[in-house]
Amino acid sequence: MTAKLSFFIFLLLCSSCVVVRDSEFAVRPIHYPRCPIHEPPITGILGAFQKEVEMLQEQLTDAQDKEIEGMRFVSGKLNDKRVVTAWTGIGKVNAAMTATLLIEHFKPRELLFTGIAGGVNPQLWPGDIVIAAETAYHDMGILTPQSFDYRGAMNPLDGWRNPVFLPADDRLLELAEKAAGQLKLEKIQTTAGERLPQIIKGVVVTGDVFVASPDKCIELREKLEADAVEMEGAAVAQICYQRKIPHLVIRSISDKADEGAVLDKQTFQMTAAKNSASLVVEIIRLLDSRN
Ligand code: ADE
Repeated sequence: MTAKLSFFIFLLLCSSCVVVRDSEFAVRPIHYPRCPIHEPPITGILGAFQKEVEMLQEQLTDAQDKEIEGMRFVSGKLNDKRVVTAWTGIGKVNAAMTATLLIEHFKPRELLFTGIAGGVNPQLWPGDIVIAAETAYHDMGILTPQSFDYRGAMNPLDGWRNPVFLPADDRLLELAEKAAGQLKLEKIQTTAGERLPQIIKGVVVTGDVFVASPDKCIELREKLEADAVEMEGAAVAQICYQRKIPHLVIRSISDKADEGAVLDKQTFQMTAAKNSASLVVEIIRLLDSRN
C-alpha cells in the first residue's frame, strides 16, 4: 500500500470517529417569554408510558381531567405547584404531538419529560438517572456510503437550522442538580451487585428505535458522546427549542441497550420510572411558584 493511500485511510478513520458538535451552525440565544403575571405558572410534565405518568398523577391534589384531541391531560397540584401531566405514547411523533397540544392549551412556563432509557455509558446501571444537559437525534442526518452526518432539523418557524445538540434550560438544570443532591433513592440489585443509584448530568439521544445492540451503543458513544438512549426526549426538546419554552429531560436507566435490553427493561422499568419520577417531584418542589 502506498504511503499516500495509507494516509488517506488514516484520515478517513479519524473523521468517522470525530464527535459531532455544532461548529458550523451558530447557536442562537434563547429569549423566553414570561407568563401573564396574574396567573401562577404551570409546569408541564410528560412521560411516554401510562405507568410513568400515573405515578405522578396519583400524587396530585385538586386533580382535573381534560381530553384534548383524544389525549388525556391531568392537571392539579404537586408539592403545591401547578402542574399538567400527560403520557405521550412511544416515539418522536407522539411525543411532539402531545408536547404541542400541552403547550397550546396550558401555556406551561416550562416542560419536563420523565421516563426510562437504555444506558449507553458503560458506567450506568439500571436505576441510575441521567439529567439531560443536551438531547440529540441519533437518526436524523445524511447517510452516505462512507458515513452518517448528524444534522439538526430546519426550524420552520424561523428558517434556521436547529443545533444537533438541543440544550436543556440552565435554570432547570441547576434545580435538577440541587434536587439530585437532596434525593434519597433505594439500593437496587443489578448484575453489578447491590448499588445505590447514581445521578449524572449527560447527553441523552433519541430515535425511533429500541436499541438492543452493543455495536450501536459504541457508535452512539463515539459519535454523540451519548450516555443514554430513548425514543422521545429530543422531539420534546425540539418543540420547546422552537417555541422558546424551557425544558428538561430526566431519564432513569432500565437496561443497557444491549442483547439483554428487552428482558432488563421488563425487570427494571418500574424501579427506573419511579426513580425518574422521584427526581421530577423534587425539582417541582424547588421551582419558584411565582412568575
Ligand atoms: N427506552 C428504554 N430502553 C431503551 C432502549 N434500549 N432503546 C430505546 N429506548 C429505550
